[in-house]
Amino acid sequence: MDPGRCPEARNRPESMRFFHRTMTGAPGQIVRDRRPVSRRFLLQSGGVAATGILLGIRGAAGAEANAPTGRRPTTLDPDYFKGMYATESDPWKFATSPYERDKYAATLAALPRTHYASALDVGCSIGVFTHQLCPRCDALIGLDVVPSVLDAARARCADCPNARFMLAAVPGTWPAGQFDLIVISEVAYYLDRPDLARLVARVEGAVLPEADIVLVHWLGVTHYPLSGDDAAEGFIAGARDFARVLTQARTAEYRLDVLRVTKPGASSGR
Ligand SMILES: C[S@@+](CC[C@H](N)C(=O)[O-])C[C@H]1O[C@@H](n2cnc3c(N)ncnc32)[C@H](O)[C@@H]1O
Repeated sequence: MDPGRCPEARNRPESMRFFHRTMTGAPGQIVRDRRPVSRRFLLQSGGVAATGILLGIRGAAGAEANAPTGRRPTTLDPDYFKGMYATESDPWKFATSPYERDKYAATLAALPRTHYASALDVGCSIGVFTHQLCPRCDALIGLDVVPSVLDAARARCADCPNARFMLAAVPGTWPAGQFDLIVISEVAYYLDRPDLARLVARVEGAVLPEADIVLVHWLGVTHYPLSGDDAAEGFIAGARDFARVLTQARTAEYRLDVLRVTKPGASSGR
């Protein structure tokens, strides 16, 4: 269902994880476990069709065919994520995994400013990072496509009166308002290229002058429409007329790009 950045694979017993990864990559593709300590290189002999048959994968995550590249050709549907959260409240282990803990710490450390007036956390999930970001903002909106995670995020951020949450699938739905910080963490690669371009346009229309835009993306093999690098580079290229790269960091697992809006009055143009 979700090779690489894959809750099902990562949070199940090793044997299941091994099997899952063996079967879910594109034919001939080498799939890597996301955790360095258990890095395993598996030559793929099966494909998504075989996986679907063997694991009985169906419904939201199995309904769309993968492109010959092994990638979903179009933006992942909200039902894909609803299905993921249906069986586990924290499928990526945001609250407990060392990867997420370290990624959140690095993201917070990379923020160029100590404090923001108005922040947007796109794809906030159950609000683990959102909660950590709250003290750095006067106001904060978290949005996600899954209603149940927003309930969880609201509960987690109950001690943050400055935070509010919104059901939205970007780029189709977008909050009103203007922001001096927009965080897009592990979300842009779920979009196809046209939707990524629309997301960039949404961001351009919503950023205050000199706002910061933070992109974080896992770099492992997935079947998402875009790789982590393609998502980040595509965003950066699309935003070149209104934002420049301020800092970039790369670990074995993810990349973190911080952009600064350069266009005066960027949000007034659209
Ligand atoms: C991998 S989680 C990332 C959570 C958090 N941002 C982080 O970095 O830890 C991706 C989240 O984005 C949400 N999501 C996926 N596509 C989305 C879209 N088009 N609009 C808004 N949220 C989306 C999913 O429901 C999921 O909760």
